[in-house]
Amino acid sequence: MADERLIAALDVHTMDDVKRLVTTLGDSVTYYKVGMELFYGVGAQVVTWLREQDKDVFLDLKLHDIPNTAAGGICSLMRLGATMLNVHASGGYTMMKTACDRMHAEAAELGVKCPKLIAVTVLTSINQDDWRDMGLALQIKSAVVRLARLAQKAGLDGVVASAQEASLIREACGKDFLIVTPGIRPAGSDTYDQSRVATPTSALTDGATHLVIGRPIYAADDPKAAAEKIINEMEKVR
Ligand code: C5P
Repeated sequence: MADERLIAALDVHTMDDVKRLVTTLGDSVTYYKVGMELFYGVGAQVVTWLREQDKDVFLDLKLHDIPNTAAGGICSLMRLGATMLNVHASGGYTMMKTACDRMHAEAAELGVKCPKLIAVTVLTSINQDDWRDMGLALQIKSAVVRLARLAQKAGLDGVVASAQEASLIREACGKDFLIVTPGIRPAGSDTYDQSRVATPTSALTDGATHLVIGRPIYAADDPKAAAEKIINEMEKVR
């Protein structure tokens, strides 16, 4: 049994580790997140291999550059066959719109399925003090909502956000907007270094459409059993 709303983070370092974990999880997990450490370490073969296993891939490389460069980078990643890509919303409206428009145009030209494009609003590692030191006056929560609206206006499919912000974003951006939330911890599990955590059910109830979960699955003694327990909990919210 799988749940397409669960994205398991592949925070491992080698192709051998990837193959071992994906094989262990088997049919329980259909969607994986590849971050910059793994991608920069092993390259595009990780996306190709996951696609060959019929898995969806969220390529979490958080592009942030001038519009032309970010759009070119997104188009290169689109050709790898990922299901979902992302950019930083703080790159601005023109950057997001250029990347989104060019990705759609190139995918249509190539006749391939266009990935979803989402935006990182404010990194969940940034606290109000860091934010003020950067010279930014708005409350973080207000900035998150503002950036989510900007991403939507630029044509993006959704945002990455903490579960704490999910309900505000849902209210501001309507029902079809993707809200992808990391920092998820099943009740009773170790929080590790995450501070603003939510359970799978509360994140989904607040409006998250996808949950990114790393250590509670890959660091568990029995990763498949851990994933299935999480999926059972998620199934309570449909
Ligand atoms: O192990 P854990 O469940 O904390 O992993 C969460 C994953 O989501 C990690 O790959 C982490 O880098 C990523 N992430 C995050 N917070 C963000 C964006 C991404 O934890 N704001």
